[in-house]
Amino acid sequence: MRFIIEETNELAGKWAAHYIANKINEHQAKSDKPFVLGLPTGSTPLITYKELIALNKAGKVSFQNVITFNMDEYVNLPEEHPESYHTFMWTNFFNHVDINPANVNILNGNAEDPQAECDQYEERIRQAGGIDLFLGGVGENGHLAFNEPYTSLNSRTHIQTLTQDTRVVNSRFFENDVNKVPEKALSVGIATVLDSKEVVILALGPKKAVAVQHCVEGCYNHAWPITALQTHPAGILVCDEAAAQEVKVSTYRYFKEMEKGSL
Ligand code: GLP
Repeated sequence: MRFIIEETNELAGKWAAHYIANKINEHQAKSDKPFVLGLPTGSTPLITYKELIALNKAGKVSFQNVITFNMDEYVNLPEEHPESYHTFMWTNFFNHVDINPANVNILNGNAEDPQAECDQYEERIRQAGGIDLFLGGVGENGHLAFNEPYTSLNSRTHIQTLTQDTRVVNSRFFENDVNKVPEKALSVGIATVLDSKEVVILALGPKKAVAVQHCVEGCYNHAWPITALQTHPAGILVCDEAAAQEVKVSTYRYFKEMEKGSL
């Protein structure tokens, strides 16, 4: 696993954007096949999305031949709700880049048969040839996508009951009223994320420091779903200094040393 520690959240978010843009460009230089990109929501990827939009506008990366799959969506929240992940993605990213709307995939949290929707989502990913790079964030409790603690580390796309912790954290988007936060979500599974050829997890700010510490130094354990990143052959965790503050000095130095001279 690579563990990139940038000084600020701005630099960490931009690092991820440039990494993704380079991967898309490298892929497109050698293949006509679309690049398949997994994407998260949340406050964490906002800097990355802004930078990708800037790179797109500057002609440095194109999304015309990119297919996207989002990680998750709330259940029973209308798509047009300001806090739905559909709204989030179009407002913060898709509306500002040259992506073909037909190439955007987001789970339908209002599907009549939610499990069938999840199964079809897995099938759509397979038909697209699998995901090339999955960008993700992490919850304060270590959740990956909406895979809450104690979700199987082999899980596939499924209906997930949200923990009270997560609903309280996310209530900041719902007028600070936890009762307005949906109780369930549809989420790609941990195995769905790990199937991706590359996984890049972004963690910014001090509230993510404990989850980061588990991810880097903890045991592979369903209590901290983010530890599943340890098993991926090309996993990258990208943090700012604040999110890295709980790891041991020796761990910090080891990864800084490893990244010396890397891009
Ligand atoms: C949300 C999302 C996750 C996200 C995480 C962190 O609830 N379902 O995919 O990574 O929680 O969110 P934030 O980036 O706002 O801290």
